[in-house]
Amino acid sequence: MATLAPAPDAVVAHDPLDVSRAALYRDHLWEEPFRRLRAEAPIYRCEDSTFGPYWSVSTYKPIVHVESLPELYSSSWEYGGITLADPVDQASEFIMPMFIAMDRPKHTDQRRTVAPAFTPSEMTRLSESMRARTSALLDELPIGQHFDWVDRVSVELTTQMLAILFDFPWEDRRKLPYWSDWAGNIELVHNEETRKQRLEILFEMGSYFQTLWNARAHAAPAPDLISMMIHSEAMSGMSQNEFMGNLVLLIVGGNDTTRNTMSGLVYGLDKFPDERAKLEADPGLIANTASEAIRWQTPLAHMRRTATADADLFGHPIAKGDKLALWYISGNRDESVFADADRFKVDRDNARRHLAFGYGIHRCVGARLAELQITILLAEMAKRRMRVNVLEEPQRVAACFVNGYTAMPVEITRY
Ligand code: HEM
Repeated sequence: MATLAPAPDAVVAHDPLDVSRAALYRDHLWEEPFRRLRAEAPIYRCEDSTFGPYWSVSTYKPIVHVESLPELYSSSWEYGGITLADPVDQASEFIMPMFIAMDRPKHTDQRRTVAPAFTPSEMTRLSESMRARTSALLDELPIGQHFDWVDRVSVELTTQMLAILFDFPWEDRRKLPYWSDWAGNIELVHNEETRKQRLEILFEMGSYFQTLWNARAHAAPAPDLISMMIHSEAMSGMSQNEFMGNLVLLIVGGNDTTRNTMSGLVYGLDKFPDERAKLEADPGLIANTASEAIRWQTPLAHMRRTATADADLFGHPIAKGDKLALWYISGNRDESVFADADRFKVDRDNARRHLAFGYGIHRCVGARLAELQITILLAEMAKRRMRVNVLEEPQRVAACFVNGYTAMPVEITRY
């Protein structure tokens, strides 16, 4: 087990290498402790944190290793699920099992119900409406005026996409990011008041989807994701709670992540103007820039696994029941894989090797959709010769799971 002296500047009220502290993300201070972890203790046991003791896995190779052994390192909510916060909702009456938090064989069956919605041919089918909606939204943006990129572009575009995917009532589509923000913020469970409020909102969401479910279950099969799930073969073995859980998974999975990359890419290009100049000069770099934005921003900072048996992890004694945080946010800055890793590099030759989508059997099922949305956004911005200038530091989410932005004031100019 690695034991490290605290950083010289640390007031030792906590472990300075406890990277689960929400303030590190809110104040954008996470890079330094992760740099230390990667250099000094890539597999590190943090004894004391808001989430109890846990192992930090912060370099590329051991993250891939742990994800390659899903029987030994479980994702199941029965062991504790996929975030450092233990799933308190499951302990109460609101049970929403999702396949991201299941192990084989159940995970395999349930993933199969949604996978057909993300095939290359489905992406081709969706791309036309995605492009049209992105174009319309960009054309409405003010030039030379200040506005919030997060709300006006990132949230709105990802919300529209999900509404299309679910064939969700268009006028209610803003409910999706609202629910997603409450469902996805694990910090809220520490406070009794916000915990209760979160549960109420999740119930409201549940009953809304119940109504949609009832309508679609009695209608002919359609190509939207809800209908696809209801009418799939694997659905016969899925309880209604599991169906709800998987819907929430798709909403949170599709919302927070792509949204934050859309903000992160604007922030990154603004921070590295020479890289932005390369992209502006060569639209052939757009697809690679989309992958690089996902690597550099890493919208989900970690996924958790729980050991199902005692194990040895590159010399570290893992005990049955131990929590492991796989820090994608740090693995994506691993210098042994990504040269000059802190730099947003539009022509990085291995940008696609990033770990932001995870690895192995749980690798993000929506990855193609996310890449497509981001690529279309960049392409439509390029068509309009649109440069987005960030006016002040963005406000960030205070959490160690969703790594994102709540507001980012910008102004558009043409190049
Ligand atoms: C799983 C990241 C977009 C749906 C995951 C995982 C990560 C992730 C890290 C877990 C991987 C693991 O445990 O190994 C991202 C990122 C995105 C993104 C960074 C955007 C940039 C989306 C979209 C959707 C989606 C657009 C759907 C609309 C899912 C689902 C899973 C998942 C359903 C569970 C897969 C499984 O357990 O088999 N995603 N995601 N994600 N994601 Fe995404």
